[in-house]
Amino acid sequence: MSTTPWTTGKPTRSPFATPTGLAGRLAGRLMLRLNRHQDLLQLLDIQDGERILEVGYGPGGLIRLLQWTHATSICGVDPSPEMLAQAARPHGAAIAAGRVDLRLGTADRTGFPDAEFDRVVSVNNVAIWPDLHAGLREVHRVTRPGGRTVIAWHGGTRPSRIARRLALPESVIAQIENGLGDLFTRVTRHELTALTVLSAVR
Ligand SMILES: C[S@@+](CC[C@H](N)C(=O)[O-])C[C@H]1O[C@@H](n2cnc3c(N)ncnc32)[C@H](O)[C@@H]1O
Repeated sequence: MSTTPWTTGKPTRSPFATPTGLAGRLAGRLMLRLNRHQDLLQLLDIQDGERILEVGYGPGGLIRLLQWTHATSICGVDPSPEMLAQAARPHGAAIAAGRVDLRLGTADRTGFPDAEFDRVVSVNNVAIWPDLHAGLREVHRVTRPGGRTVIAWHGGTRPSRIARRLALPESVIAQIENGLGDLFTRVTRHELTALTVLSAVR
């Protein structure tokens, strides 16, 4: 499996971008160890009864944290069957109860109805999407009016050495920010510990 990210225009088979087979499963374990998203959870500010969609959940680090919020419904899409298996493993009971719903899908084809979610969140995958604007149109479509889409990428005030190397140039952050600005009513930028975050209100 390969993908061609809009940021490079070159196909990649990196196990972090297209986690497949053994390499993908190992990449998943590493992401689970390295990508801790507690401060992102605060910024998401999830209220009682809200419905959340995570785009590109990978091994499911954020899905685990979302379970401890008052969200009624925690949904996710990711194109990798390996990541679906890894992310779903700890949530058997919540999946059976219908509170957690993890599916195969992509940023530009989530498969969910219009205005379905109070929050839509993407962590460390916007730069991998093949088509930025198709992805932004789709996350806007599934965010309810007044709801928020939150897009995060490696960066922040105290990034690890790896995250520093993966941080995006300002010009690329600006393209994402402008793309959000064309669709949403208000976009704000936040620097968390290891993430640069764009938060957009529909
Ligand atoms: C670097 S991992 C990040 C995973 C997780 N969000 C985290 O922070 O640990 C990137 C993830 O994005 C997924 N991905 C790749 N292309 C995608 C797309 N077009 N839409 C949504 N997710 C995608 C990959 O399958 C992978 O699970």
